[in-house]
Amino acid sequence: MEIKKVGVVGCGLMGSGIAQVSAQHGYETTVVEVNQDLLDRGLGRIEKFLSDGVKRGKVKEEEKAQALKRIRGSIRFEDLSGADIVIEAVVEDLDIKKKVFRSLSETCREDAVLASNTSSLCVTEMMTAVLRPERFVGIHFFNPVPLMRLVEVVRTVKTDRSVYSAALKFTESIGKVSLKAHDSTGFIVNRLLVPYLLDAIRAFHEGVGSIEDIDRGMKMGCGHPMGPFTLLDFVGIDTTYFIANIMFEDFRETRFAPPPLMKRMVLAGFHGRKSGNGFYDYSKERPVANDRILKGGVS
Ligand SMILES: NC(=O)c1ccc[n+]([C@@H]2O[C@H](COP(=O)([O-])OP(=O)(O)OC[C@H]3O[C@@H](n4cnc5c(N)ncnc54)[C@H](O)[C@@H]3O)[C@@H](O)[C@H]2O)c1
Repeated sequence: MEIKKVGVVGCGLMGSGIAQVSAQHGYETTVVEVNQDLLDRGLGRIEKFLSDGVKRGKVKEEEKAQALKRIRGSIRFEDLSGADIVIEAVVEDLDIKKKVFRSLSETCREDAVLASNTSSLCVTEMMTAVLRPERFVGIHFFNPVPLMRLVEVVRTVKTDRSVYSAALKFTESIGKVSLKAHDSTGFIVNRLLVPYLLDAIRAFHEGVGSIEDIDRGMKMGCGHPMGPFTLLDFVGIDTTYFIANIMFEDFRETRFAPPPLMKRMVLAGFHGRKSGNGFYDYSKERPVANDRILKGGVS
C-alpha cells in the first residue's frame, strides 16, 4: 500500500509537529482539532516553527510556503475520510483515545492505517476500539517532532505485516529513523529512561549527591547531553510521574515506582521548566538547584 494523504488528530504540541513534518515531506495533510480556537493556535504554532526555521536559515521561504499550502485544518472528523494513514496525538487518556479511534474507524477508509502517538498507554488496548485491528500501529514521535529524528514504530500481535511495513516506510519518508518495537509499556526508550530518572531522584533523596553534582556526574562521566534533573525538568515532572505510574501498574516492578518526593513535587506544582520550578528554580537569570526541597521547602 502507498501512503499519499495523511491525517492527524490533535494539533497540540505533538500533533502540530507531526502535521508540519508530514507536509514538509510532500504529504497532503489534514489536521483535526476539537474547536476552531485550538485549531488556529495549533496552526499558528506550525507557522511560527517554520518562520523561525527560515530566520535561522534552516528552512527555505519556498519550502515553508509549500508546506503550509499542504496543511488543511479542520474541526470535523469526516475530513479525514480520504486519508491513507491517520495519526492520533490527542491527550494521554485511554478513554478519550479509544473514543477517537472508534470514530476514526467508522469514518476512515477501510484500508486506512490508524496509528497512535501514545507515550505510555497500551497500544493493544486502543486497538480493541477499532473495527480493523490488523491495520492498527503505534508511531511514537519524540518532542520537538521537527527536530527529533527518532520514532518508535510499534506493532501489536494483530498488526498485519504489510501495514507495519507501510508504517515504517512512511516514517522513513518523513526523514525519521525508526526503531521497531513490540507493544510493551514505555516501548524501548522510556523502558530504559524512566527507571534511570526515578533512580536519580532516589539517589538525591538518600543524600548520595546534590542535584547539580548528580547532573554533572551523568554529563561529564557518561557523556549525556544533560543530567537527569535537567531532563526531568525539561520533560515535565508531572508527565514523567504519570508515565511511571502507568509502567508500575503494568509491570508491578519497584524500579518503575515513582518515589514519594516526586508525588509531593507534582502536587505542589513543581512540574519543571513549564511551571518555572522543579529540581531547578527558573525565576533567576540562570537555573538554581532546589536542593532545599528535601528540607520541606525552597523559600
Ligand atoms: N509532549 C511530549 O513530549 C510527547 C512526546 C511523545 C508522545 N507524546 C504523546 O502525544 C500525545 C499528545 O501530547 P501533546 O504533548 O501534544 O499534548 P497537547 O495537550 O499539547 O495536545 C493534545 C491536543 O489534542 C487535542 N484533542 C483532545 N481531544 C481531541 C479530539 N477528540 N479530537 C481532536 N483533538 C483533540 C487537544 O485539544 C490538544 O490540543 C499524547 O498521547 C502524549 O503522550 C507526547
